[in-house]
Amino acid sequence: MKPWSELLKMNPEDRAAYMALPEVAAEMAEDERKSREAKEERERRDAAYFAARQPEEAKCLMVSVGVPRRAVGIVIEKADETEAIKAASEADDLLVLSGSPGCGKTIAAALWVWQYLRDPKRWTANDYDRQINFKGSVPIWVTAARLSRWDRYDEEAMKALLTTRRLVVDDLGGEYLDKNGFYTGLLDELVNEREANRRATIFTTNLNAKAFRDRYGERIYDRIKEGGRFIACGNVSLRKAS
Ligand SMILES: Nc1ncnc2c1ncn2[C@@H]1O[C@H](COP(=O)(O)OP(=O)(O)OP(=O)(O)O)[C@@H](O)[C@H]1O
Ligand SMILES: [Mg+2]
Repeated sequence: MKPWSELLKMNPEDRAAYMALPEVAAEMAEDERKSREAKEERERRDAAYFAARQPEEAKCLMVSVGVPRRAVGIVIEKADETEAIKAASEADDLLVLSGSPGCGKTIAAALWVWQYLRDPKRWTANDYDRQINFKGSVPIWVTAARLSRWDRYDEEAMKALLTTRRLVVDDLGGEYLDKNGFYTGLLDELVNEREANRRATIFTTNLNAKAFRDRYGERIYDRIKEGGRFIACGNVSLRKAS
């Protein structure tokens, strides 16, 4: 077959007649088939690359979101089903996981974040630079101690806390409670806003229902009971003696 540079110089009728010649048409069809196959092969390779890459990226994001590394390791390797996990799995409301130390609350909350981050639908792949990016709302993980130091006047930081699709506040109960009620005010706003806008939230705590109500007040406790769940998830420690 003549090269394209030559074909383009021909007048249109001659070119059409030339391209209609059976051996030329057959050669063109063959070229087309080859380039289609090459494209399909490239797409298969890209898809396999991104499928292998996505869990790795999701794992990095788990760590950068603040999920404790120890918990990341356990949920990715394989977490056993526990009471806490049953309650937390795909939770889309306000959930308090209450239970004694070691019963698996932090692991359950970490698995909940992982279920969200590992979903390939929440990622976009860019063939051009072979980048893969999370396109959803990035979850937030804070310990209650860190939440008590949260800057309530930093609008961006507050907005992130109130609007993220998945928020975990780990270990309520051990943080410092100021006498002016500043922290309870923050918690109250968080619970109210997130419940009103159906933003999924998990709190973990060693406090039982009564101690929780005594510490944070009737209002916060009632809102959780109304718009969510307060689950007692066991008093057996799963921590291995070491
Ligand atoms: N689903 C699980 N599968 C396997 N191991 C688990 C699971 N849940 C908990 N464990 C084991 O128990 C340990 C303690 O779990 P985790 O940190 O979740 O407890 P916790 O309830 O958050 O305790 P604390 O109240 O002290 O924060 C983990 O480090 C892990 O070894
Ligand atoms: Mg914990």
